[in-house]
Amino acid sequence: MNMSSKKQHISPATINLTSSSSGPVYIETYGCQMNVSDSEVVISIMKENGIHHTTDIENAGIILINTCSIRENAEQRVWGRLDVFRQMKMKKPGLLVGIIGCMAERLKEDLLESKKLVDLVIGPDAYRELPSLLKEAGTGQKAINVLLSREETYADISPVRTDNNGVSAFVSIMRGCNNFCSYCVVPYTRGRERSRDPGSVLREIGELSEAGYREVTLLGQNVNSYYWNNTGTAITDFSDLLEKAAHEYPGIRMRFSTSHPRDISDKLLYTITRTPNICKHIHLPVQSGSSRILQLMNRGYSREQYLERVAAIRRIIKDCSISTDIIAGFCSETGDDHRQTLSLMEEAVYDFAFMFKYSERPDTRAANNLPDDVPEDVKSRRLKEIITLQGKLSAKSKKGDLGKTFEVLVEGTSKKSDNELFGRNSQNKVVVFPANGFKPGDYVNVNILRHTSATLIGVPVCDLEGGK
Ligand code: 5AD
Ligand code: SF4
Repeated sequence: MNMSSKKQHISPATINLTSSSSGPVYIETYGCQMNVSDSEVVISIMKENGIHHTTDIENAGIILINTCSIRENAEQRVWGRLDVFRQMKMKKPGLLVGIIGCMAERLKEDLLESKKLVDLVIGPDAYRELPSLLKEAGTGQKAINVLLSREETYADISPVRTDNNGVSAFVSIMRGCNNFCSYCVVPYTRGRERSRDPGSVLREIGELSEAGYREVTLLGQNVNSYYWNNTGTAITDFSDLLEKAAHEYPGIRMRFSTSHPRDISDKLLYTITRTPNICKHIHLPVQSGSSRILQLMNRGYSREQYLERVAAIRRIIKDCSISTDIIAGFCSETGDDHRQTLSLMEEAVYDFAFMFKYSERPDTRAANNLPDDVPEDVKSRRLKEIITLQGKLSAKSKKGDLGKTFEVLVEGTSKKSDNELFGRNSQNKVVVFPANGFKPGDYVNVNILRHTSATLIGVPVCDLEGGK
């Protein structure tokens, strides 16, 4: 069931280049965690077809750029990179350059026309076609497939991990989004929401466990609307899936992102609170503190309903951290709407936040119906105020951690010193501490002594037998 059909038909008879003669593939990833996860699926598909992955761009026969369209500046960065690839292609004429992901879906053939260097354009649901499209591109023809699917979840593909630490991995459990927030391009670039077979999710977590991984983040644009109604499994909603995964793999920490405030159920909150290896952190994007703006954004909740969910989290889960996304300067936002965002932030006391200026995206509901009428300097000032306030809230949250002891999963060596390690606590806060013989993958109990703006700093309170 295709939602968009723009495949350029090329006869197989014209294919005369074997994929392996193109040389290894280098892939550069922009945007969200879902794109990181998709790039790992792409590398796996390429590997199955005899095309190896390289992290050295100079050595590549194929360069793929996995793109993001969420804000205009995300696309600008990609255009900048394409100029660099153009220089490389001048020196190495056989080099193939492909654009994959959300920009491919949004701009389609325009990418082939406006940037003559682009050989391939492939949308997020067409990655299985990559090997054959590469062969087409190898004949000198432009290859494009931006078909969206209602079924594709890449469930059977075991991603080739690119995380570098061997400790923490992403597992995508659903794709697409049906919410149509008025500012957002995702429903158009990633298509309709669909959930992945729970059996394949559990199998993938099992493979990660076998490979020594200690943490997985279950990914979806809106994980709380995960739904599986096939018979043969007791798992139907996200809470069931999360609980089953956590029980089956008690040595693995479970994280998840992103939760839509309208869909986060008490059932999920109770599952988190009674399951020790589910992390106590919820990313709950608010976007605005003004009910009027939330309605224009088509978010499906009011300020009061959002704060009620925050209160439920605080009531049901002890010591849960909450993070958020905020957009400054959405269409028609007044000073009073903005002040409501600031006051909501103070009420919610976010532990951390991702904060953006509104960026109008072509063809979204907001772009079609609402003028982007907040002046740039006002957007900038409001964003600055939001960032400053969040700085204070983050400091307050870290100050509250002083003297506490957290179980930290070690991810690697600290950037500042080889004698220090870093990892995260259940609340997703970064903790740095003296190595004392510990290594990545260990769980270490760390007592917090001080903090910087971004990090908690402490000392291990147990020996090598400590932690889990
Ligand atoms: N402009 C600014 N920020 C946006 N986001 C999504 N679309 C836009 C846009 N058009 C932000 C939202 C979302 C996060 C992933 O990106 O805050 O939660
Ligand atoms: Fe975009 Fe809203 Fe879907 Fe998030 S929930 S991806 S903001 S449409």
